[in-house]
Amino acid sequence: MNLKGRDFLKLIDYTPEEIGYLIDLATDYKAKKKNGIRHDEHHGKNIALIFEKTSTRTRCSFEVAAHDLGIMTTYLDPVASQIGKKESIADTARVLAGIYDGIEYRGFGQEIVEELAHYSKVPVWNGLTNEFHPTQILADFLTIKEHFGHLEGINFVYMGDARYNMGNSLMVGCAKMGLNFTACAPKKYFPDEKLISNCREIAKESGATLSFETDPATAVKNADVIYTDVWVSMGEPVEVWEERINELSPYQVNKELMEIAGENAVFMHCLPAYHDLKTGVGREMGEKFGRDSMEVTDEVFESDRSIVFKEAENRMHTIKAVIAATI
Ligand code: CP
Ligand code: NVA
Repeated sequence: MNLKGRDFLKLIDYTPEEIGYLIDLATDYKAKKKNGIRHDEHHGKNIALIFEKTSTRTRCSFEVAAHDLGIMTTYLDPVASQIGKKESIADTARVLAGIYDGIEYRGFGQEIVEELAHYSKVPVWNGLTNEFHPTQILADFLTIKEHFGHLEGINFVYMGDARYNMGNSLMVGCAKMGLNFTACAPKKYFPDEKLISNCREIAKESGATLSFETDPATAVKNADVIYTDVWVSMGEPVEVWEERINELSPYQVNKELMEIAGENAVFMHCLPAYHDLKTGVGREMGEKFGRDSMEVTDEVFESDRSIVFKEAENRMHTIKAVIAATI
């Protein structure tokens, strides 16, 4: 498998074999890391990390993964660079590609990271856009594979706002890798029709099924994985909280829902999560709307069915695989 020089912008661009290879490569790097085996095989290289939105997991994963591979990093934060304000994406791409061996980009529209990649002669990696979060899916699938031993045939249910980066990317990933994907939300939160029909074509190859449900109890019956994400994503206005709470509350992942799914079902979340009032936004919105949690209850989040911290650790191992395979 040779992925050298390839961008990693969205999973649609990768074959199931290539996605499987990246997950297996992450497993190898994870074993090396756990056994203290050095793997600084890309010593002397440099990468730029552009973040137009904030991050904990993705930034730390890129920095640690790069360091383990012997690669130096430069972090460009949401305010300090010239990008978009004094310098176009096309010019930024050509400047950074002359200095660095790879560029990570987190920001707004998918078209921005696509443009960056178009003008860059070095690989560009998508660290989250409004539409897609492909490195997160590799971590999620590595975690599912570790837990269940396989991906094919897993019943995967996504609760909540399925039309944004996580819902979209998980649907594509499931279609590619043969997991049965169900999105459960009011209809307006289902992914874009065009993406759904694209995924239906992809699913014909893998044998995956795609379903769209409005009733939580029906959706989670026989689920292996129940996944959710925040109801209001980065970059969205604070005013949408009220509507989201009203419309998505019935889709909160709680104990009753986990019980319908059965005792083998696990809970997953890309994080960060509003499962209690210990965050600034969680507290403010919780107090305003009289709630102690949003998309998942604290009880489920802290339960032994929750594998969210294994999932978070796997961000680093999978991002390392993406960098090492493409740089
Ligand atoms: N899951 C995820 O991308 O987390 P960060 O926003 O902290 O990077
Ligand atoms: N949908 C969330 C994902 C965070 C990892 C957001 O875009 O804020």
